[in-house]
Amino acid sequence: MNLFSEIKIRDLVIKNRVFVSPMCQYSSTDGMASNWHLVHLGARAVGGAGLVMSEAAAVSPEGRITANDLGIWNEIQALSLKPVTQFISEQGAVPAIQLAHAGRKASSKVPWHAHNLNSDWSIVGPSAVAFSKDYSTPKEMNDLDIQKVINDFLKSAELSLLAGFQVVELHMAHGYLMHQFLSPLSNHRKDQYGGSLENRMRLPLQVAKSVRNFWPAKWPVFVRISATDWTEGGWDLQQSIVLVSELKKVGIDLIDCSTGGNVSHAKIPVGPGYQVEFAREIKKQTGILTGAVGMITDPQQAQSILDKDEADVVLLARELLRDPHWPLRAAAALKQTITWPSQYERAPF
Ligand SMILES: Cc1cc2nc3c(=O)[nH]c(=O)nc-3n(C[C@H](O)[C@H](O)[C@H](O)COP(=O)(O)O)c2cc1C
Repeated sequence: MNLFSEIKIRDLVIKNRVFVSPMCQYSSTDGMASNWHLVHLGARAVGGAGLVMSEAAAVSPEGRITANDLGIWNEIQALSLKPVTQFISEQGAVPAIQLAHAGRKASSKVPWHAHNLNSDWSIVGPSAVAFSKDYSTPKEMNDLDIQKVINDFLKSAELSLLAGFQVVELHMAHGYLMHQFLSPLSNHRKDQYGGSLENRMRLPLQVAKSVRNFWPAKWPVFVRISATDWTEGGWDLQQSIVLVSELKKVGIDLIDCSTGGNVSHAKIPVGPGYQVEFAREIKKQTGILTGAVGMITDPQQAQSILDKDEADVVLLARELLRDPHWPLRAAAALKQTITWPSQYERAPF
């Protein structure tokens, strides 16, 4: 399968298998998309990616990582994203949005700010356990809080459709709220949402089910997971496989396979393609479509992931910050076909 061959998921045809991985930009006020989002995401659509995913968009104000996160809990925010989705679609790419709630990792500071500006709301989580000593202790969520999160994800999915997105990805990775429920290291609950694997999976599956039931049957829903906490006694590949089998039953179409983020001291063996093995095992053991992500930077490396049937698509983050035209460049390096924007045809690689 060529990197620049199309992939059809449900009725949606995506022109190639290079996807823009979600990347927080911390460039919003009141959750609104700005000129930055139009140019930043638009540039990656011009650069030839098949699918352009927004950064984590918060489903509620309290679910934001920082006060400058993108949000999608009201109509004005959805409308602010419309020019972005329109522009991405005009370039022949698919606009996708990642929906997220940061849970106990909310109310943090923007990385390039020295202080925590305006990020001082009280945070919630499955249990009253802080992420690290630098974070506040969350309030343990009660049944009403849990129901609100399910409703918030659904409402945000409705607004995503209004905004013009064709794909939603549910963020269940990187130690954010859904991952906090999954992992026994962050979930110490004694009720039906904690304890056994079945109980820890309950909320993520309820969210997945309600969004999938709403989202048009012709279009896909993705889930990003952290396939392991890289920590003894934490979330791991075996539990991920059980979760993905359940997500598949609910109708989730693709698992975007990341790792880590729930334990501040985890030792992660970072290196080229270091998470590909998780995409491969999840694909092999569940038969679902997978996306590989993490230090994929070289065209041959990306192609070989597909050749070895380790994943169906690749997601690139930092390499696409370095070079938004990476897909155009990679197609040339691999001698595969990609359509250039007419405006740029005089400058082939
Ligand atoms: C600036 C930046 C912001 C990120 N924000 C998000 C995010 O909003 N949601 C998410 O799931 N991952 C986020 N990530 C992780 C990336 O999507 C990706 O999984 C990670 O960077 C590894 O891929 P890479 O080696 O190609 O950069 C972010 C990464 C970077 C560099």
